[in-house]
Amino acid sequence: MAPRLATPADIPFVMAVERIPGHDAYINLWTEEQHAAALAGPDHAYLIATGPDGEPAGFAILSDLRDPHGNICLKRIAMAAPGRGLGAAFLRAVTAWTFGNTAAHRFWLYVVASNDRARHVYRAQNFAEEGILREARLEADGTRTALILMSLLRREWSPETSR
Ligand SMILES: CC(C)(COP(=O)(O)OP(=O)(O)OC[C@H]1O[C@@H](n2cnc3c(N)ncnc32)[C@H](O)[C@@H]1OP(=O)(O)O)[C@@H](O)C(=O)NCCC(=O)NCCS
Repeated sequence: MAPRLATPADIPFVMAVERIPGHDAYINLWTEEQHAAALAGPDHAYLIATGPDGEPAGFAILSDLRDPHGNICLKRIAMAAPGRGLGAAFLRAVTAWTFGNTAAHRFWLYVVASNDRARHVYRAQNFAEEGILREARLEADGTRTALILMSLLRREWSPETSR
């Protein structure tokens, strides 16, 4: 799956996927203005997963593209229809895009500790769990949940595993 770069016309799709019931437990939501500013700026890249007929199937947002230390962040990734095998393939493609198109040394992310599916997908692609950020995420009901910090170093990534 070769992802394509998003255009402003993709923002409604990205916002619709962000707002799929259940996704809010694991990802943050941005307004149209926040997306438009990030998409237009130099620090973010938006990648769109496409299905067999070219229809959008998911999205990923990278941030910190100009980090001088080469720490590029997978800020957000979500599929329109999770659990069908597309997300793992998309993550592989997003990782390949990141190491192929940026000076990333370390590709990192936070994942909600209870997000077992996402943690499984990251671990299966060699992302290491670096630590736990206790009570780091404030939920809508005022409770707090832990985040897990994960990363993949360039030398741990193989283009072969990204096909
Ligand atoms: C995380 C996400 C992008 C993964 O994409 P996906 O299309 O669902 O993933 P896939 O179907 O390709 O693969 C899911 C894998 O998780 C496994 N899995 C499913 N539910 C699981 C669970 N509760 N615990 C552990 N593993 C689980 C599946 O068996 C599969 O692994 P396998 O290929 O080794 O059998 C997608 O689920 C999503 O959009 N989730 C909501 C938003 C989100 O959580 N984003 C990540 C924020 S860090």
